[in-house]
Amino acid sequence: MHVLGIVASPRVNGNTDILVDEILSGVRSSGGTIDKIYISDFDIKPCDSCMNCMQEQKCVIEDGWQEIADKILKADGLVMGTPVYWNAVSAQMKLFMDRCFSFLNENFESAISGKSGAIVVSCGAPDEAMTKISALIIEDFMKFNKINIIGKITGVNFRDKSDALKNQKLMAEAFQTGRKFI
Ligand SMILES: Cc1cc2nc3c(=O)[nH]c(=O)nc-3n(C[C@H](O)[C@H](O)[C@H](O)COP(=O)(O)O)c2cc1C
Repeated sequence: MHVLGIVASPRVNGNTDILVDEILSGVRSSGGTIDKIYISDFDIKPCDSCMNCMQEQKCVIEDGWQEIADKILKADGLVMGTPVYWNAVSAQMKLFMDRCFSFLNENFESAISGKSGAIVVSCGAPDEAMTKISALIIEDFMKFNKINIIGKITGVNFRDKSDALKNQKLMAEAFQTGRKFI
């Protein structure tokens, strides 16, 4: 089992990154292999809706996307992590999901179906309700692509960059979610 962590926060070692890492630690502890990317590290443009991908199942925009696409296709499992920005996923996560449209064929069958997936959402508000919309957006993405959802980690009340580390219960949950991939 090879699992790719996708961090859609620009903050390296921030809360989203910490929780994605903890899931990946769980994967490793069960004998799986891991890789991780920060969407912000890649020079990728928004989807331009040219629809050429529907014939080729490949995006025709020439930028950093192909490197990400290769990593996704190689992985058996995906961990998609986003901070909440204005009660929604980050722009990086939206951009990532839109470019994944290129995995669909004209019958809307996805080249990434059958993989396993876990979701991470982190936010500053103390109320769990603030994570709902972002979690739902990623859940819908996974369901449409027929990715088998194995777990969801939602962290609230994150004021400082590494607050997630203080929530030991959540960290343990994240680790156990990683173990479920295997
Ligand atoms: C542009 C921006 C918008 C945000 N909007 C919200 C919001 O709507 N609700 C919320 O609870 N937190 C919001 N936050 C706080 C982040 O969700 C929170 O700090 C999160 O833990 C950041 O994740 P990170 O540490 O992985 O970067 C916002 C932060 C930024 C920078």
